[in-house]
Amino acid sequence: MVYVNLMLGLGMVLVSVATAFYLNSRHTLEPRLEPRPRCAVCLEEMFYGDMHYMKCGHALHKACFQEFRYVNKNCFVCNKLINANLPGDLCTICFDPLYKSNMSHLICNHALHTKCLKEYVDKGARNCPVCRMELEGTRIS
Ligand SMILES: *[C@@H]1O[C@H](CO)[C@@H](O)[C@H](O)[C@H]1NC(C)=O
Ligand SMILES: [Zn+2]
Ligand SMILES: [Zn+2]
Ligand SMILES: [Zn+2]
Ligand SMILES: [Zn+2]
Repeated sequence: MVYVNLMLGLGMVLVSVATAFYLNSRHTLEPRLEPRPRCAVCLEEMFYGDMHYMKCGHALHKACFQEFRYVNKNCFVCNKLINANLPGDLCTICFDPLYKSNMSHLICNHALHTKCLKEYVDKGARNCPVCRMELEGTRIS
């Protein structure tokens, strides 16, 4: 009886060692799947190539950023200021309110009326009228 118990005990030990070894090797052999970063706007996973990095270093889906930039000033993750101007803010050039349909963003994330920005650039201006950052790279759409 003692012998049987001993064998059973030894068997259990062997089984658990083998199981541990098996689980362990499976763990190290399988490629580690890094969890994909999630977009703070829609909470869906993001894929490289479809991410817009904000200046705080956090990223959103490109399309989600295009919504976010008209509705919220601060990053949802770290609360840093991302969007200097939202619809309803006054245009620095004409002092009329900006609308989503007629505002354009500069590379510094300040926004002006598309029309005001065009006129401003046509006059030869090369810097943001608010923060003086160079406008090179700004698309006026
Ligand atoms: C911007 O759009 C609004 C609403 O359509 C309009 O009332 C306003 O005059 C426009 N401003 C400019 C400068 O385009
Ligand atoms: Zn998203
Ligand atoms: Zn952030
Ligand atoms: Zn304006
Ligand atoms: Zn600016």
